[in-house]
Amino acid sequence: MERIAVFTSGGDAPGMNACIRAVVRTASKLDITVLGVRKGYTGLCNDDIIPMERRSVSNIIQQGGTILETSRSADFLTKEGRARAITVMKKHAIDGLVAIGGDGTFRGAQALLKECNVPVIGCPGTIDNDLYGTDTTIGYDTAVNTALDAIDRIRDTATAMERLFIIEVMGRHVGFIALQVAIAGGAEWVLLPETVSDHEAFYRRFEQGLEAGRRTNIVVVAEGDETGGAEKVADSLEKLYGIQSRVTVLGHIQRGGSPTARDRVLASKLGAAAVLALREGKSGVMIGEIGGEVVFTPFDDVITKRKPLNPFELELMNRLS
Ligand code: F6P
Repeated sequence: MERIAVFTSGGDAPGMNACIRAVVRTASKLDITVLGVRKGYTGLCNDDIIPMERRSVSNIIQQGGTILETSRSADFLTKEGRARAITVMKKHAIDGLVAIGGDGTFRGAQALLKECNVPVIGCPGTIDNDLYGTDTTIGYDTAVNTALDAIDRIRDTATAMERLFIIEVMGRHVGFIALQVAIAGGAEWVLLPETVSDHEAFYRRFEQGLEAGRRTNIVVVAEGDETGGAEKVADSLEKLYGIQSRVTVLGHIQRGGSPTARDRVLASKLGAAAVLALREGKSGVMIGEIGGEVVFTPFDDVITKRKPLNPFELELMNRLS
């Protein structure tokens, strides 16, 4: 292994820079040359490739976003696009790839592996935490803490004016962020794609709360919930029960900002492990961390298997709200 390339792809996540840094520094110490592919698969198709060395990753461990930039590449989904990427990889004599991203990134890597024999290792980077094969993904902890900070602020104004707030957090298909911040933010109700949302049950609880003297209500909605998001939930509560509320959609605020210590350490571990795995001849696997141990999961499993929410945390949410 002499020349590897690293790239970030799909939605950016805080900690991706720490992961890039770990890849570059681990490889440099092993005398492996590192190239950075800009804008994910788009850069691989278009030959947007830069040299990297120890100093190119100085002072980035604390930065959100990704210095290599990212994209969701339509081009790479086509055979022609991938053929161009393979030509670019040959031109640069790339003999290993580290792909940092989510399920779309690993679908792309899987397709590439069927068409060329350059080994690829994946590192899980997405705030959604929706990847099988790792307890948490790079960026998830930061996103949870960013959303929680916003919810704490909303609770101040909600309490001051005795209001019901419906807060939408990210999570296209899963409710990991929603469940964590609902527990940590003391929410009264959480709506998750993984469970069926019962408006009637919430209404009864809301009424009982009012009778018991509760004046502040926080509802957390995952964007992928079957209700269609916070605005729709607010409309339904008003139409069905005449309940007035205020809506806040946190959106991309959750994707930015300086990564937490947890995300920086996770990203550093997985980035370093990716280089060592390439050197050992591994390919077609995502590196994750389960119970503190570094583990490898085939892209096929990462893409097809679903990581469930923690049932104890679901029960805890019900118990405490
Ligand atoms: O995959 C991470 C994520 O932030 C999701 O939570 C969200 O639905 C999506 O990306 C937003 O994507 P985009 O920035 O392309 O609109």
